[in-house]
Amino acid sequence: MPSSVTHHHLFLLLLLLLPIYSIAQTYKKLTLGLSLTSGVENSKWASQNGDFAFGFRQIADNSFLLAIWYYKIPDKTVVWFATDSTESNGEIQIPKGSKVELTTDGKLILSDPQGKLIWSAGKSGATYAAMLDNGNFILGSTGSAGYLWESFDHPTDTILPSQILDRDRLNNKLYSRANDTSFSNGRFRLRLPNTGSLVLQPVAFPSLTENRYQPYYNSSSLPGGNLKVKQFVFNESGHIYVISKNGSIMNLFQSETIVPATDVYYRATLDFDGVFTQYSHPKSTSAPEQFWSTVGYIPDNICTSFVDRLGSGACGYNSYCELTSKGRTSCQCPPGFDFIDPNNRFGDCKPNFDLQRCHQADGRKPNESFELQTLKNVDWTTSDYEELQSYNERDCRSSCLSDCLCAVALFRQGTCWKKKLPLPNGRLDVSVNGNALIKIRLDGSSSEQDPNSPFIKSGRKNQSTLILVGSLLLGSSVFFNFIFLGVIFVVMFFMNKTLRKKTHRTSVLRSNLHSFTYEELEEATDRFSEELGRGAFGIVYKGFTEEMGSIAVKKLDKVFHQGEKEFKSEVNTIGQTHHKNLVRLLGFCDEGQHRLLVYEFMSNSSLADHLFGISKPDWNRRVQIAFGISRGLMYLHEECSTQIIHCDIKPQNILLDDSFTARISDFGLAKLLITSQTRASTGIRGTRGYVAPEWFRNTPVSSKVDVYSYGVMLLEIICCRKGVVPELVEEEIKAILTDWAYDCYSQGKLEDLVENDEEVMNDMRRFERLVMIAIWCIQDEPSLRPSMKKVTQMLEGVLEVSAPPCPYQFKEYVGNSSECNDV
Ligand SMILES: *[C@@H]1O[C@H](CO)[C@@H](O)[C@H](O)[C@H]1NC(C)=O
Ligand SMILES: *[C@@H]1O[C@H](CO)[C@@H](O)[C@H](O)[C@H]1NC(C)=O
Ligand SMILES: *[C@@H]1O[C@H](CO)[C@@H](O)[C@H](O)[C@H]1NC(C)=O
Ligand SMILES: *[C@@H]1O[C@H](CO)[C@@H](O)[C@H](O)[C@H]1NC(C)=O
Ligand SMILES: *[C@@H]1O[C@H](CO)[C@@H](O)[C@H](O)[C@H]1NC(C)=O
Repeated sequence: MPSSVTHHHLFLLLLLLLPIYSIAQTYKKLTLGLSLTSGVENSKWASQNGDFAFGFRQIADNSFLLAIWYYKIPDKTVVWFATDSTESNGEIQIPKGSKVELTTDGKLILSDPQGKLIWSAGKSGATYAAMLDNGNFILGSTGSAGYLWESFDHPTDTILPSQILDRDRLNNKLYSRANDTSFSNGRFRLRLPNTGSLVLQPVAFPSLTENRYQPYYNSSSLPGGNLKVKQFVFNESGHIYVISKNGSIMNLFQSETIVPATDVYYRATLDFDGVFTQYSHPKSTSAPEQFWSTVGYIPDNICTSFVDRLGSGACGYNSYCELTSKGRTSCQCPPGFDFIDPNNRFGDCKPNFDLQRCHQADGRKPNESFELQTLKNVDWTTSDYEELQSYNERDCRSSCLSDCLCAVALFRQGTCWKKKLPLPNGRLDVSVNGNALIKIRLDGSSSEQDPNSPFIKSGRKNQSTLILVGSLLLGSSVFFNFIFLGVIFVVMFFMNKTLRKKTHRTSVLRSNLHSFTYEELEEATDRFSEELGRGAFGIVYKGFTEEMGSIAVKKLDKVFHQGEKEFKSEVNTIGQTHHKNLVRLLGFCDEGQHRLLVYEFMSNSSLADHLFGISKPDWNRRVQIAFGISRGLMYLHEECSTQIIHCDIKPQNILLDDSFTARISDFGLAKLLITSQTRASTGIRGTRGYVAPEWFRNTPVSSKVDVYSYGVMLLEIICCRKGVVPELVEEEIKAILTDWAYDCYSQGKLEDLVENDEEVMNDMRRFERLVMIAIWCIQDEPSLRPSMKKVTQMLEGVLEVSAPPCPYQFKEYVGNSSECNDV
């Protein structure tokens, strides 16, 4: 049959082509006898195209790595390194003066300066070695088809285009590293087990027992994933997929946009946090982005992927995992807990108080020694020891408080789960849909609150105890003296311990904030040399620390002469906020007159700079920003354990992050000024033009002041102009945006508001809706303004927006706003 003949021919042709193809790669052959020495400048062999190099990389003073790395790019990213064959601890430590040699009998041998063998590759018989252009280092023999040894067969944490993991060969695993600075074995594996799936799995650490824990990613449980995986392929064009025995293919990442591998380098790495990520990096060193960007990753949310009853989950014990961007995670300790090793944020947390000292030891009931702090939407899924049904939150709280074993309770819809230490598998996720109640000891920072505690007022009380004991001693027998001496010893010992603990506790806040010394911040900001901006509460400087990277340091004005306690409790409240539309507080400094707050650094400056600058953000982006701010405000008003009113919402206080997400800054500070002083002495908080009218009246200030400011700002965002433009006095009505907007709205001439903005002109229905929402927000009468929750629902289209009334209908204060129109 002709067709079978053709097939036969094709097959022969393929057979002929295969060896030709592999020979077609050009490379410099390294001849036998060549060697490299660690510590010698330029001890490497580069590939023909210069993309990769093989050789020694210094990782510490007297420690080197035998590695392959990207040779041209600034990062010099390591893609392979020689590992201990016992695989117990990954990297091998190589001292200075060690030698890697291509021996005359055709092996690759690494020996230390004394000549002792450290590591070897190949079984002799090679006639050359080569660093190939694709990143594979090989030992070959002229006359034999395949390679005798190749680094692609011994992957570490990274796989490169044209590299294949094969279930039936030894190279069927990737090992994560311990952290981004270490090359030791970490906690995660990518494997192709015999069951025929591709799995990501944690190992029992540090014993490194594999296969004990359930995978946190299993290709078999995905739709279309029920194929017997044979190979895991990273093909030359940059696609990553698995191939089954019968030849069917499943892509690893759902939506991938793969640019040609001719322009970028690709690599895929099982990162130390357990996420398997494909990255790309421009090949050209003149391209602007000289870093690795994420192309795809699995699992989608590692925080919620762990299902095993054993193991600590994505983070360490007693910590919880939060998804940041692009699958990356951040691990946090709950309030009252600290990282055991402050440098290792993937490690375990421990309580910074004694949970055991609970059984009425100091004469108090357990529910008087502890309190519960709320962490919204945080759960540790596999640590429950009791489930109480038909409870309300109050019952749940008191049940945990009076139970010495209970470290945390989770309350959700009438059910109360009590949990004990250590807490595994913590995550912050909206699907938790409940409150974690974290038990914290009451003494320490709040010691002033319990004057009855026997061990607090050190000086005087100690003295009187001693006098009492002394006088008792005088009038007693020798036998009792001995007993008393023993008692004194025990009492003093205990007192000493408690006091020490107390001094420690007062310096630690209950939230997960870093306490800086002034000196540290002086150094981090290079003596406050780079000013980022000036706000109502002080000047903000740019800083940098090894641990946190870029930071923004706010030096608070002298006006914050509140007591230490108020300051701490306010900082604590701010520190407990977690929302993607808020700037995160990372730490603080409280040293005498120096009070500073440390925030994450926002790369894209403030909304004001963009809105009123030269290049306006496009219409969709502006709308997204407005949405984001409303969600952030709604969180502050309704979802924090203590309500936070901002009091100074304006575009200058909205910062934009890398991805132009709006992040509210400066929240939580206003309260410090309002609480202890009357409004009369503080004056009006906030900024002219954004201030709600009730500030001028003698009526209470509520969260509705923020709604007002939001309304003004919403108009600014959608119209891309300032709220007050004094230069427009000749067209008086236009000078004040709120008046002008209501005028245009009520007269049906909304186009006048946007003038030449074509994008908006094409989306007038949405624009009108936003103007209507804004007019609701700027109602003179606070009770007419919607809550931020309602505003958010209206923005999202969940709620209808009805026609807003004239904002000034209850005009009773002396201002410069316009009259209501007769419409
Ligand atoms: C992955 O899932 C499949 C199908 O659900 C199952 O048979 C297999 O055992 C799982 N793999 C591991 C390592 O648990
Ligand atoms: C391979 O096997 C899977 C089931 O194991 C099946 O769904 C798929 O259609 C098969 N593909 C081919 C090309 O036969
Ligand atoms: C790599 O895989 C993709 C998707 O499966 C395919 O379109 C492409 O042709 C492959 N490239 C090579 C060089 O095999
Ligand atoms: C990185 O891991 C190594 C080995 O486990 C450890 O010694 C080192 O302290 C870790 N470094 C950080 C910053 O966590
Ligand atoms: C502690 O519990 C007791 C009952 O066991 C109760 O009488 C008391 O009011 C509780 N105290 C607090 C502060 O809740």
